[in-house]
Amino acid sequence: MQDYLVRDINLAPGGRLKIDWVRVHMPVLNAIRAEFEREKPFAGVRVAMSIHLEAKTAYLAEVLKAGGAEVAISGSNPLSTQDDVAAALAAAGIHVYAWHGATDREYTEHLVKVLEIRPHVVIDDGGDLVHLLHTRCRELASEVAGGCEETTTGVSRLKAMEREGKLLFPMIAVNDARCKFLFDNRYGTGESVWAGIMRTTNLLVAGKTVVVLGYGWCGRGVAMRAAGLGARVVVCEVDPVRALEAYMDGYLVMKSEQAAGVGDIFITVTGCRDVLRGEHFRRMKDGAILANAGHFDVEINKPELAAAAVSRRVVRQNIEEFTLPDGRRIYLLGEGRLVNLAAGDGHPAEIMDMSFALQALSARYIWQNKDRLAPRLYLVPAELDRQVAELKLSSLGIEIDRLTPQQETYIQSWQGE
Ligand SMILES: NC(=O)c1ccc[n+]([C@@H]2O[C@H](COP(=O)([O-])OP(=O)(O)OC[C@H]3O[C@@H](n4cnc5c(N)ncnc54)[C@H](O)[C@@H]3O)[C@@H](O)[C@H]2O)c1
Repeated sequence: MQDYLVRDINLAPGGRLKIDWVRVHMPVLNAIRAEFEREKPFAGVRVAMSIHLEAKTAYLAEVLKAGGAEVAISGSNPLSTQDDVAAALAAAGIHVYAWHGATDREYTEHLVKVLEIRPHVVIDDGGDLVHLLHTRCRELASEVAGGCEETTTGVSRLKAMEREGKLLFPMIAVNDARCKFLFDNRYGTGESVWAGIMRTTNLLVAGKTVVVLGYGWCGRGVAMRAAGLGARVVVCEVDPVRALEAYMDGYLVMKSEQAAGVGDIFITVTGCRDVLRGEHFRRMKDGAILANAGHFDVEINKPELAAAAVSRRVVRQNIEEFTLPDGRRIYLLGEGRLVNLAAGDGHPAEIMDMSFALQALSARYIWQNKDRLAPRLYLVPAELDRQVAELKLSSLGIEIDRLTPQQETYIQSWQGE
């Protein structure tokens, strides 16, 4: 009997329906599952996962289990866990430690419980599991063959650890694969952030001024979809090249201080902290809406927002109103946590099909190559990235050209003949 901690195991049937729905829309992962079922690459392997615990993630956990793994999983944000999905996984024989609305302490305890499985492989999203394996649960690190990291912020943390020579086992930067950031960060975040904001507020986007702070892969998607919905888009950046790119993509570019006074909806997506803070809140229009899509809830400075307000109250699910001394109201969505997951279902299934196919293949790669990989940060091998793209194209019924032998030779040569 496997161990679990979920809000209510009786919610399992509803969660199962959600998992079944996304499974149908994840053909690449289905192909990998069939291979894993045949080959059992994870026989005897314990896998610890911490990824936003909703239906697509649940399906990844089941694919790894189908490959022979014993899987333990928690969420990677207290508000993104869906209790019915967690219950369905527990009912399906996976060790689950997660519930929606966990306190900071409960959230950490859940991660520690996941690590008690003594993992051989870790699949992390934002670096919390890896951090624990280098601090509080360091004694477990020697058994870890390696792991995979899902998001930009987690990869930044791993780069810092590698730079300082602190990494205890090899990690693969799944985020940095082309089939990840080009689709998940851009189209996934672009669509799901707006799905989350629109269903939470039930307000119109057309005609509004949307301020996107951070024009990386996620920011590009959020800005593109805002424009598609009819918003005027303002971009704020600290990187001059990306600022210029935003300008040539047709957006207004200005300092955040100036944007604060013109925006109706603000979305932070930088991976940085205090991007919106007291000096911005004081300039904002009455009714300004704030949302974050970056990994941690530090991009909007919540203590400074609270300090600037004379009162606060929840006015609708996932919307908190802060009233400033002169009566202006500012609305914070989803407690400043990633709005697409805290106030939505996350990325579309077809997008996570590719991201999680990369996770599954990278986890297998790290396990199969455990004897030759050093404790460093690795890119996803190019052939795996390519394999995911080929499987996706094939599932879409799209065929593409191949280089002829002459073209191959031409491209490889320097003589031009
Ligand atoms: N919501 C989601 O589902 C989701 C999905 C993928 C990634 N993420 C997270 O979103 C964040 C951004 O990811 P990305 O892939 O776009 O990263 P990225 O590195 O491609 O882009 C971040 C951009 O923000 C800019 N920036 C940094 N600090 C800034 C500041 N103070 N003001 C303005 N701009 C600033 C950088 O110059 C960069 O252009 C990360 O935390 C990542 O983990 C969230």
